[in-house]
Amino acid sequence: MTVTPINPDGPNHVAIIMDGNGRWATQRGRPRLFGHQAGAKRVRQAVETCPQLGVKYLTIFAFSTENWKRTQSEVAGLMALFRRYIQRESNYLHRLGTRVRFIGEREKLDSKLQKLMDFLEKLTEHNDTTHLTIALNYGARDEVTRATQRLAVEIAEKRLKPEQVNSEVLASFLDTCMLPDPDLVIRTSGEARISNFLLWQSAYAEYEFIDTHWPDFTPDVFETVVGRFGGRDRRFGAVKA
Ligand code: FPP
Repeated sequence: MTVTPINPDGPNHVAIIMDGNGRWATQRGRPRLFGHQAGAKRVRQAVETCPQLGVKYLTIFAFSTENWKRTQSEVAGLMALFRRYIQRESNYLHRLGTRVRFIGEREKLDSKLQKLMDFLEKLTEHNDTTHLTIALNYGARDEVTRATQRLAVEIAEKRLKPEQVNSEVLASFLDTCMLPDPDLVIRTSGEARISNFLLWQSAYAEYEFIDTHWPDFTPDVFETVVGRFGGRDRRFGAVKA
């Protein structure tokens, strides 16, 4: 199905730091996991909304390399939620024409979750309606460190010369090598920080820090934030002609 985007000058790639699930649940006297479950429903709606907003690439921060410091029960609950999400949503995402990929360090995740991630990536590998990238056990410093290690091996084994390393070569070793850079990074829930998300890739992104908690991030909120993007004057370091 072809959908005419509401905003043809809008961002091609939107990345979202989905914050505020815990506070949203606490405000309702419910456990934090209740907020994460409500957040998972908003992920589905955000993906559904992308075509009409003209957003081809959506990247979401689901679990950071720092999130292991949460209580054992919250971490276990989140991991179970990710497994259930893939089990329940795979066919729907496939029908929507969504291509799903994961970025982050997979080895530390449990093997069942890793298998489900592989399955969903394979199932949707030929889809092209929306490219959904889920950052799971992702941290930008970890990503750059892993990329640098692989780059060092290429140089040590003489497949690459040090003087051949430039920003394109380095970017090709990042987890995001198959993605364009984000045009717009949204963080929900009021904090104005980046928390180790896509540090390299967001060098020229616009940022939107909004007060809405992630479980209240409706398609209307998404449309409003994306709508503001069209009016921005992006110069990428140059002076406007
Ligand atoms: C941050 O809110 C949110 C997370 C660490 C988890 C994000 C996960 C989801 C939205 C669940 C669904 C995702 C997928 C891909 C199914 P927080 O807990 O830090 O909130 P707080 O700052 O209010 O405590």
